[in-house]
Amino acid sequence: MKILAIETSCDDTGIAILEVSEKTEEFSVLSNIVSSQIEVHKKYGGVYPAMAKREHQRNLVPVLIRALKQAKLLNPKSEIRNPKQIPKSKIQKLNSILERESELAKKLVPFLQKHKKPKIDLIAVTNGPGLEPCLWVGVNFAKALSYFWNIPIVPTNHIESHILVNFLPTRPGLVGFPAVCLVVSGGHTQLILMEKIGNYKILGETRDDAAGECFDKCAKILGLGYPGGPIISQLATKFLGCPTPQKLPRPMINTKNYDFSFSGLKTAVLYANRKVENKTKRYKQEIASEIQQAIIDVLIKKTMKAAKDFKAKTIILGGGVTANKELRKQLTEKIEREIPNARYLIPNTQLSTDNALMVAVAGYFKAEQNKFMRWQDIEANANLRVE
Ligand code: KG4
Ligand code: ZN
Repeated sequence: MKILAIETSCDDTGIAILEVSEKTEEFSVLSNIVSSQIEVHKKYGGVYPAMAKREHQRNLVPVLIRALKQAKLLNPKSEIRNPKQIPKSKIQKLNSILERESELAKKLVPFLQKHKKPKIDLIAVTNGPGLEPCLWVGVNFAKALSYFWNIPIVPTNHIESHILVNFLPTRPGLVGFPAVCLVVSGGHTQLILMEKIGNYKILGETRDDAAGECFDKCAKILGLGYPGGPIISQLATKFLGCPTPQKLPRPMINTKNYDFSFSGLKTAVLYANRKVENKTKRYKQEIASEIQQAIIDVLIKKTMKAAKDFKAKTIILGGGVTANKELRKQLTEKIEREIPNARYLIPNTQLSTDNALMVAVAGYFKAEQNKFMRWQDIEANANLRVE
């Protein structure tokens, strides 16, 4: 079975093709293309939904072509069909599905007229949570493909995809449940109890900013650029583990629940930064190290609390912030020291940040559970929650 997956929930346009062996259920990645919009959003220090939507509309067809070519699924020239063979009503229907995505339609309709259906068995698309206009571009694109090629479709939850990407190299049968999952990204910070694939309960989440958002906003305050996570973690390397003169708060670190709050940390950075006149390189390195450690301390404390309270057999990490080397290292050490019998799964760093391969993996498990939907019924939902 070959799965074509689409991810457009924020500022990355991703398309991946995953093959799943019918016999062994083994996964092989045929392609995984991510077109990042960092260059577009960098000058504003954050993502503007309208601009991100426009970029997705521009990028989706070129990214699809690259993904199909890499997977050797784009039909050779000899197979190019005569556009006149396609009934007018079918093109009309296609245009009506893409009514709100006119820039995308201009590229997708000619592409579909020109190329024969590739050997794809399932389409998976992120329908939430995320930025609503961005989600809709991906969803309408997926609906158009599902309709035109007559391929079944499953909608997938972005948070669940960040969790399930860990099952690309590791069979779920080898993992003990319950698992406690920490999903930390630019838009979300959640601790989730997972009883099995497809069964989740949100234990706690951020009451204001997400951890990745905190990295991004602190970087903006310090004039460091976007996205803040990788820049701050790079700067922080110089003073890792050293006490720094800038002491920042660890909001909610000792509360009895599993919730987070990061906006106070950002405000503390704002005030601390105002007091410093000469913002030397050393100052920036020191404060970067303290920001990173403050975020890591809270994430680790709450994750370990949840893992112990719920007697987790496995701890699963996902989301862009888990690309952070120190978080990976410190959490790993803590788990090995304090709950040595627990397993932990962390995606490799390229799969921590947004990509469509995670959507393909989630799509596979959804299909296994028969969670197909008629393309007509699929809607984007910016506030979709795992359940
Ligand atoms: O999962 P993701 O790619 O997109 C969302 O779903 O939001 O996460 C992006 C977030 C950004 O806030 C970015 O600053 C953060 O992940 N990030 C990092 C690192 N790499 C990306 N944060 C800390 N350290 C990193 N190395
Ligand atoms: Zn994400």
